[in-house]
Amino acid sequence: MNRQTFSREGFITDLSRRILEPEEVIGGEEGVKYANRKDDRTLTFRMVAFDVVERAHLTVDSRILEVCCGAGQLVHELSKFVKPQNIIAVDGSKELIEIAKSRYGSDGIRFEVQNVHDLNVPGNFDCVVCKDSFHHFPDPKTAIVELMKPLKNGGLLYIFDLVRNASDESINTRQSAILDDHEAMRFLRSVNASLITKEFIQVVSELGLNIEVIYPLTYSEANKKNNEESIKLDKIKEINTADLFAVYLLRN
Ligand SMILES: C[S@@+](CC[C@H](N)C(=O)[O-])C[C@H]1O[C@@H](n2cnc3c(N)ncnc32)[C@H](O)[C@@H]1O
Repeated sequence: MNRQTFSREGFITDLSRRILEPEEVIGGEEGVKYANRKDDRTLTFRMVAFDVVERAHLTVDSRILEVCCGAGQLVHELSKFVKPQNIIAVDGSKELIEIAKSRYGSDGIRFEVQNVHDLNVPGNFDCVVCKDSFHHFPDPKTAIVELMKPLKNGGLLYIFDLVRNASDESINTRQSAILDDHEAMRFLRSVNASLITKEFIQVVSELGLNIEVIYPLTYSEANKKNNEESIKLDKIKEINTADLFAVYLLRN
């Protein structure tokens, strides 16, 4: 299928193949810029948090590990449902972890600099979450194995990510809504680095694991009701570009 090309800040998409981002961990100045991006995705963080709680059947006493937590917005939202003392959030970027600690450290969440390829956490989590980050991993198979390890028996790995098979229309809607050129370029680079849903399913089946795929992304009625006002105000119209994202659920 011939794909449209999109270009921002010198990056031109080639959606016929996976092109990895230049860096895996977002450190240094780029990390600080990422944490302070103008593109407001608060609604997504709220809806994903609600979705995680629903799909993993979490209670206030459940234990959550977020890998690639960035500046900590998702765990901040999750801590409204689950005791913050039961949440560990890690990222390979020391700059992002410093920012997460300064913004949400007082919630009681434990933030640590840790790489997905070398996790040092307990193995008793009800849910491991990885949001908007899987496309950074050069070797998807190894990453899935690492993300499954900290789960307790019956625990859920929840991966939310962009997909390269998103429609040209949705990619265009989203990138034109991002006014800052650098942020829009980062978005296009991330789409180009992401897996096609079929590729993701293939990797999981090679590992002999079961997977449930939510694609295009859909949220429950309860979730939409809970965020009704913010959905009306959402400038990015993320809810209308559901084919940009997939949720992959893997049970241990
Ligand atoms: C696009 S950001 C998403 C951050 C956050 N989950 C969010 O939704 O805002 C990707 C994150 O993955 C982190 N990351 C990438 N590769 C990593 C690795 N191998 N180990 C730990 N963190 C990693 C980056 O540092 C960055 O914070």
